[in-house]
Amino acid sequence: MIAIGVPAEGEDEPRIGLTPETVKKLFKAGATVTVRSGAGLRSHFPDQDYSAAGAKIAKSDAEAVADADIVLTVRRPTPALVKSMKKGAALIGMLDPFSDADGLDALAKTGVALFAMELMPRISRAQSMDVLSSQSNLAGYKAVVDAAAAFERALPMMMTAAGTVPAARVFVMGVGVAGLQAIATARRLGAIVTATDVRPAVKEQVASLGAKFIAVEDEEFKQAETAAGYAKEMSDAYKKKQAALVAEHVKNQDIVITTALIPGRPAPKLISKEMIESMRPGSIIVDLAVERGGNAELARPGEIVSHNGVRIFGKLNLPGSVPVNASSLYARNLQAFVEPLIDKEKKTLAINWDDELVKGTLIARNGAIVNAMIAERLGKAASPGNAPPAKEAANGSAKGEANKAAPKRQPKGGKA
Ligand code: NAI
Repeated sequence: MIAIGVPAEGEDEPRIGLTPETVKKLFKAGATVTVRSGAGLRSHFPDQDYSAAGAKIAKSDAEAVADADIVLTVRRPTPALVKSMKKGAALIGMLDPFSDADGLDALAKTGVALFAMELMPRISRAQSMDVLSSQSNLAGYKAVVDAAAAFERALPMMMTAAGTVPAARVFVMGVGVAGLQAIATARRLGAIVTATDVRPAVKEQVASLGAKFIAVEDEEFKQAETAAGYAKEMSDAYKKKQAALVAEHVKNQDIVITTALIPGRPAPKLISKEMIESMRPGSIIVDLAVERGGNAELARPGEIVSHNGVRIFGKLNLPGSVPVNASSLYARNLQAFVEPLIDKEKKTLAINWDDELVKGTLIARNGAIVNAMIAERLGKAASPGNAPPAKEAANGSAKGEANKAAPKRQPKGGKA
């Protein structure tokens, strides 16, 4: 049997990469699982549920990982913990591969194989392992729920004997995974929803969710989607036209949810201070792109900024505020990735280092960084054979959008 260890996450991370459900599945696949006592509590998975599913409970993080062939985490663990792992073991988590390259290098030097789930190629075979999708979907949902809770008016239209309460107007900017779920959630709450994106393919998806699509639909718009299904950085001329359209639209909106991202670039600035000043007091903006610089001018990471009565939410780790679902989905993403790494008959670790998904996510092995972009940041050459193709590596950034040069997938049924 191979051993899987799961330590507790840091204070600011309520999610966990293991659930009682995945313990059972991993056991069937040929692994024993040890989890740090209390590690699942913030996602409401108590120790006894893990034990009942067949996991061992460890008293410390070091004990949870000491004998593990594979360690599963949500975030990048401390160097001390990685040092306490077996040499040659695998660490699999959202390792935030494009920040703190030196810190990552230190982890690499321990000899542990590092896998960053954010780098999972977005191809059909890997859909069940796509942590960006599983977590962004929840972030889109939570953004609307947070806004609705803070908004001091009702969202649906209500016709009462005392008069009519008008429906709130919600505008979603950027209609990827998070944006689609934001539209669906706002519609369920009864709001009048409009949405914008620079990719023409989105138009139909927005309509199918019962929202209205608005965008500058010129020649550039028709070409704005890359072969991989992502947005391009738009020209200054387009940005000007888009800003004029948004300025006109935004002043009549009650809630604006922004999710716009461009692989490998800072988030496009879509809402200026002037636009914020044109909004009615009591309006709310939730900026999901805040970790990448933000789509709204006044957004600040981790803060709620109030300006002329308009509140701009820059909350971090929105998936972490729906930890039960976020952990369940993330744990399934991990289990789907881990199972093929195990030889079910021999019950040994059998990593196929040539597999596209292994190569795509692997950032360090045998003491060296093997991801070209991280190695470049460290001023070293990556070990040949393991580095991701330059096109993919060049897409990387904090959200982990390297490998976004992967073939486009069809959006999942409604993503709603
Ligand atoms: P993302 O997080 O990279 O970007 C969010 C959205 O912002 C995108 O729709 C993008 O077009 C938009 N955007 C960028 N610049 C903009 C601007 N200046 N103004 C307005 N909007 C702007 O996107 P995400 O969520 O990673 O999805 C990207 C693509 O991948 C989509 O085509 C999505 O349907 C597809 N996808 C499909 C999956 C599947 O399972 N079938 C899973 C994940 C993604």
